[in-house]
Amino acid sequence: MTPLRSRFQKELNKKVEAYTTSIPFDWRLYRHDIAGSIAHAKMLAKQGIIQTEEAEVIISGLTSIREEIEQGKFRFKPELEDIHMNIEARLLKKIGEVGGKLHTARSRNDQVALDMRLFAKEAISNTLVKLRQLQQALINLAEVNKGVAMPGYTHLQPAQPVLLAHHLLAYFEMLQRDVDRFSDCLRRTDVMPLGSGAIAGVTYNIDREFLATELGFSQISQNSIDAVSDRDFVVEYEAAASLCMMHLSRLAEEIILWSSAEFDFIELDEAYTTGSSIMPQKKNPDVAELVRGKTGRVYGKLMALLTTMKGLPLSYNRDMQEDKEGFFDTIDTLLPTLEVFTGMVKTLKVKAENIGQAVKRGYILATDLADYLVRKGEPFRIAHDIVAKLVSYAIEKGKSFSELSLTEYKDFSPLFGDDVYSITIESSIAARDIIGGTAPRQVEQALATAKEIIGDFKGGK
Ligand code: ARG
Repeated sequence: MTPLRSRFQKELNKKVEAYTTSIPFDWRLYRHDIAGSIAHAKMLAKQGIIQTEEAEVIISGLTSIREEIEQGKFRFKPELEDIHMNIEARLLKKIGEVGGKLHTARSRNDQVALDMRLFAKEAISNTLVKLRQLQQALINLAEVNKGVAMPGYTHLQPAQPVLLAHHLLAYFEMLQRDVDRFSDCLRRTDVMPLGSGAIAGVTYNIDREFLATELGFSQISQNSIDAVSDRDFVVEYEAAASLCMMHLSRLAEEIILWSSAEFDFIELDEAYTTGSSIMPQKKNPDVAELVRGKTGRVYGKLMALLTTMKGLPLSYNRDMQEDKEGFFDTIDTLLPTLEVFTGMVKTLKVKAENIGQAVKRGYILATDLADYLVRKGEPFRIAHDIVAKLVSYAIEKGKSFSELSLTEYKDFSPLFGDDVYSITIESSIAARDIIGGTAPRQVEQALATAKEIIGDFKGGK
């Protein structure tokens, strides 16, 4: 009989076994599971619940099991259900009956909660490092293109001129919120659940604080029922990942647009583009497209887990095994996305000349003309009206603002004077000299702040 079936006469139906086993995916928790077990064995010995020599045998058994797994010598058995049972069964094989003492004062319910938390903590640190790298790449791109003015868009229509650096730093801000969210999620993930047992806590005099210190947790859980049934931290990671993917997808969309022949603002490096199988002229932005595409998949995992959890009575239910594949897939999607995205940003070339041409099109200085009239005493709404009429006139004549004569200007408002020609892309940008605005001075300051934030991360945390 396989373990945990002593009270049954029959073996598990083979199809049921295949349906319920989690080893095909939860084997990935092996390092965390073994680390948890080693800490648990040490604690049991320290508390006199098992002998020191017994703990030593258990720990060396676990260490060599870890090596077997890492060397590909371990045979995972689906009939042993999950990673916890697979490792425990192997331990018993290796060191005999004493291996059976490891599970004292523990249940798979607090064990799997621990493993998932250890795994999540690692994933969050890796995510934070990669987010920082992308932020750094954006800062660098902004810095080397500090002088480039581009059309800022609303409704994807040219709206007002902005510095490209300002536009790129908008993404820095989004990623900074992602950093905050993941860091915040880390705080709630960093809670050690061992000692909760199956649901009610354990009857042995265990040392939970010792376990927490040993495993690098800063807190211990305060309610055993909650501790075995809580997967908020997985939901939170997936939610933070969804928002982060949304940000990346938006930049991906811009990169796709900007690298199109119609915009032609940037050129992607060959190493980050693909050719077409039939159209030789094509250089496709597949990386950006897949970032955009994979965003849907990450949202999907979040919805799946929220739905799995919503009807569950306390405490542990087997439904919760469904947390794993979506979680792993989210991590396996987000981390490479951040990495490849950073590479794409680092290697793309900005076509400053083309952007310079584009910013001159589309009567992008219309707001500045209205502001000009306001400064001369016209109420803004009337000024807006005057310039709107001026724009339709200019369109009709096929002229840009700078090509209109002063007489033509004066036909629309007597307030127009010679100084209207000093309204330029540069003056428009420089005029937005307010915190959060696009004036060079402000963008310079924002860049300095961004670098400081990144610097803090490298030095600290
Ligand atoms: N494979 C299970 C999971 O991933 C481990 C915990 C099982 N606990 C239990 N009582 N069956 O959730």
